[in-house]
Amino acid sequence: MSKEIKRIAVFTSGGDAPGMNAAIRAVVRTATYHKLEVYKINRGYDGMVSGDIHRMTTADVGNILHRGGTIIKTARSKEFMTKEGRQKARQHLKNLNINACVAIGGNGTLTGAQVFTSEYPDVSFVGLPGTIDNDLFGTDLTIGFDTAVNTAIEAVDKIRDTADSHNRLFFVEVMGRDSGFIALNTGIGGGASNVIIPEAESSIDNIVEMINKAKLRNKLFSVIIVAEGSKLGSAFEIAAQVDTHFGEKNTRVAVIGHLQRGGSPSAVDRILASRLGYASVIALMEGKKQVMIGVANNKISYTSFEDAIGKHKVLNDDLLKMAKILAH
Ligand code: F6P
Repeated sequence: MSKEIKRIAVFTSGGDAPGMNAAIRAVVRTATYHKLEVYKINRGYDGMVSGDIHRMTTADVGNILHRGGTIIKTARSKEFMTKEGRQKARQHLKNLNINACVAIGGNGTLTGAQVFTSEYPDVSFVGLPGTIDNDLFGTDLTIGFDTAVNTAIEAVDKIRDTADSHNRLFFVEVMGRDSGFIALNTGIGGGASNVIIPEAESSIDNIVEMINKAKLRNKLFSVIIVAEGSKLGSAFEIAAQVDTHFGEKNTRVAVIGHLQRGGSPSAVDRILASRLGYASVIALMEGKKQVMIGVANNKISYTSFEDAIGKHKVLNDDLLKMAKILAH
């Protein structure tokens, strides 16, 4: 075990994700178990820049495992994007003798960590993938994804009831800024007729053709999942275009939005976040740094920040193919 780690700081940054609290708890408890002092940084990089950094004890993380959101708050920091902001952040860490950080967040969080550690390589950073989008290379799952998909599927189940009663076509928009992971999984788990995601070709004509084919087999309602990052536009825009093909408005739209970001984390997310939080402290003690810690084939994996943010996580083509076959 390396003796180099003095004090560890933990923070959450970017969009919140269910399970972040479970990860914070695991970091704090693993660190204190190993007699390391642990600090929280409130509001992510913003708090690092302003020095909003405070000691944490194991009691401080009691009764948070099951809670959504993040008890140490989160933000997207503009000041940290400047050299001066990062200098201030460095000084605050130095003043407290903190030389290791666990950053929990998505792409922007890891990008911040990469830039910071390229300027200040003496600070050891490890990143935990915390984003509902599941779009980080190097990990099969990100913290929050499973809960977000469960929330979306629950919503789709309800939409199906009313879609069925009225013989309506529903477009349900789910989150996923640049990726279709939430949409595809919601589509499979919610039995959607179609999934429109940035990773796969689709067109209004295809959607119209699919609706017509469904009618021929006496399927009079449909639920189509649209990823927020769809290249065909928003669910509202797609619905409006589809309506023009039928000469009447029979579509409805539901945008699930930030509901997917809140709520009690699922069992999968609680366990994943606990494993990753634990592994992050062990990794720092072993001298690992500037890596994202994830899970690959159910084993803890280590991916450089460059790869985690620079490489594209590919959607499973087999799942996409299966989704189409099961919906036909
Ligand atoms: O990255 C997570 C995410 O929820 C995306 O799916 C979405 O595009 C974005 O954050 C929304 O961000 P905000 O919280 O700023 O509205």
